[in-house]
Amino acid sequence: MGFFFKMKPLLLAILAGIVLYTGAVSEYPWTFDNDLLGGPDFWGLLNKHWRMCTMGQMQSPVNIDPSKLFYDAGLSPIAIDNNVVEAELHNTGQLPVLTINDSLILSKNINISGGPGSPYKYRLHKVIIHFGRTIDGEKGSEHTVDFVRFPAEVQLIAYNTDLYTNFTEAMTQPRGLLAIAVIVDIRDVTNTELRKLTVASQSVTYKDSKTILKKFNVHGLLPKTTNYVTYEGSLTFPGCYETVTWVIMNNPIYITKEDLQIWNDLQQTEFKQPNPVFMFPNYRPLKTLNGRLLRTNIKVKYKRMAAHSCSSNVYLDMGYQANPTRSHHKRHASDENEPNAAFSVEKLDTRADILNNMESFDYL
Ligand SMILES: *[C@@H]1O[C@H](CO)[C@@H](O)[C@H](O)[C@H]1NC(C)=O
Ligand SMILES: *[C@@H]1O[C@H](CO)[C@@H](O)[C@H](O)[C@H]1NC(C)=O
Ligand SMILES: *[C@@H]1O[C@H](CO)[C@@H](O)[C@H](O)[C@H]1NC(C)=O
Repeated sequence: MGFFFKMKPLLLAILAGIVLYTGAVSEYPWTFDNDLLGGPDFWGLLNKHWRMCTMGQMQSPVNIDPSKLFYDAGLSPIAIDNNVVEAELHNTGQLPVLTINDSLILSKNINISGGPGSPYKYRLHKVIIHFGRTIDGEKGSEHTVDFVRFPAEVQLIAYNTDLYTNFTEAMTQPRGLLAIAVIVDIRDVTNTELRKLTVASQSVTYKDSKTILKKFNVHGLLPKTTNYVTYEGSLTFPGCYETVTWVIMNNPIYITKEDLQIWNDLQQTEFKQPNPVFMFPNYRPLKTLNGRLLRTNIKVKYKRMAAHSCSSNVYLDMGYQANPTRSHHKRHASDENEPNAAFSVEKLDTRADILNNMESFDYL
């Protein structure tokens, strides 16, 4: 780590030199690997259209601090059409991306209304999956809750159809995008639609391969809750445009260990290599909030949790809420795996720790 810290300013200086000299290095491939020149700390220098990745002050993902949530009674539930659509899963080399094309038949699109995006209406366009290196137990969610990272994160990204004609246009424009983040946790059964995506991912092992899912119900990827946390942020990949209203659902969906492992087969290269270059981990390091509000529609109930009450009820009721019982308890090792405590699944993983330290490293 020490060596890396010393080297990074030098690498940045070299890269800045290249950018000044050539105007851009847009050919340079971006990656999630910060040990490489194309990694997250360098995205903003690779292409002049991506400068928000470095300069932006409202970037994503962020840590959700349950003690800093503002209850906003004006936040309505989010309504997402429950339609079955055709969609295409694509290995971009960096991410698995499911694209739902705009349909000429309007009733075949998935509209999203209500919630923090309202009064605007949005149309779902992409579903992106983030994960870690599961063999090491690395977690790969982008957003963290109380600095706890989760096994994976599914993101539903929609564009504002009231203001813009397509995703590409909306992506760079004010109020352009609405992104719904769903945390994925481990359990003994995989969410049905996530299982379909997992199976399809086996057909897109290599970069630029694509496969069509004939009947996909995106609505099925959502947890059964209307509770969420919302904040204003950015895309978590280049160009990091600060056009995204983020919604982090309060409850996870589930995947089995075995199914999560399947996502780790995805590779960054177009062809099979003697030394495979895997896609994992594919999450961006945390960004600082810089005073942004974390609003929620979760009404905090300051009732004491009954010991050994039904865990599923507690999960639904408590969610992310600033649970005084929990924050009081969390420093005691014996309580760390307390099954009733919402989202207190495990202690901060070491990679998150390292990344947080890197965030505060002042290299520019
Ligand atoms: C989406 O549109 C593109 C471009 O028109 C097309 O190549 C692709 O096959 C379409 N995918 C689906 C799932 O309809
Ligand atoms: C989606 O919104 C469009 C335009 O507002 C509307 O015409 C269409 O019927 C909606 N689709 C569904 C499935 O409700
Ligand atoms: C998106 O809309 C813009 C503006 O109307 C247009 O110039 C562009 O070609 C469209 N892009 C796609 C991919 O349809």
